[in-house]
Amino acid sequence: MQIIRSVAAMQRLGGGWQRAGARVGLVPTMGCLHAGHLSLVRRARQLVGRDGKVVVSIYVNPTQFGPQEDFSRYPRDLARDARLCRQAGVDVIFAPDDGQMYPRGKADGFSTFVAEESLSRVMEGKSRPTHFRGVATIVTKLFNIVRPELAVFGAKDYQQAAVVKRMARDLNFPLKIVVAPIQREADGLAMSSRNKYLVGDLRAQALVLSRSLGKARAAVRKSARPIPAARLKAELKRFIERAPAARVDYVEFFEPDTLVPVPSVTRGTQMALAVFIGKTRLIDNTRL
Ligand code: PAJ
Repeated sequence: MQIIRSVAAMQRLGGGWQRAGARVGLVPTMGCLHAGHLSLVRRARQLVGRDGKVVVSIYVNPTQFGPQEDFSRYPRDLARDARLCRQAGVDVIFAPDDGQMYPRGKADGFSTFVAEESLSRVMEGKSRPTHFRGVATIVTKLFNIVRPELAVFGAKDYQQAAVVKRMARDLNFPLKIVVAPIQREADGLAMSSRNKYLVGDLRAQALVLSRSLGKARAAVRKSARPIPAARLKAELKRFIERAPAARVDYVEFFEPDTLVPVPSVTRGTQMALAVFIGKTRLIDNTRL
């Protein structure tokens, strides 16, 4: 396994693979890898085959963090990530630094961004106004640097996957976006690098996210009629905020493809939520 730190070297390798007709799959990450990330690696390997190339990018992208967010304390451990990637059969880790990705300078610094302007406006986009512009920009750069024929994203970040799919379609990126299912801990908590922040009893309180998905699923199963979204939201907010450290940012019910909110909830409605557990903001989602 190779670890590549420069854009030029990665671009040379990716370009060479493309000319040689190799199948290349990219898994973009911010590192601090867990079993959720590794499931994407396995999916990429399945799709490109034994002779194909799997690239994992590891880069904590500053432009997708808001000024009050956890960019500087986001967990980083490249040595551990490299071990996990090697065991998982990854061919290349692309781990650039900020100078490589966003060259600074008053006159000749970085100044181009990619913005998806519809799906990005709701949910995560409302709470984190510049987040998806940062994601779309870095993902575009990674696509241009690695030149994969497919890129694998997790359903854990449902809206992110929708934004990336829309962007790839709108801007005619010649690659396929694959979305892999959410990996959970045994007790239901969706795996996330940010779960590291959940110390003491916050870890147990974080279960309100996956449990509220379960409650919504049960409500839909039991109800003969569509359930008014406002009523179910209010009920779930009360349930979640019974945990003393929990504060709901949003609970949303929407059409799975367009992310358009629905007035009433039925089987097939997509649900997503964001909840602060103490200072840690967690997200989760499911198809009801
Ligand atoms: P990161 O949070 O590291 O996640 C990288 C990829 O792993 C994303 O596609 C995410 O959806 C997926 N993932 C995370 N937890 C998962 C889980 N429990 N089950 C399945 N997949 C999971 O998302 C990002 O990084 C960044 O925004 C990035 C796309 C790399 C752009 O900077």
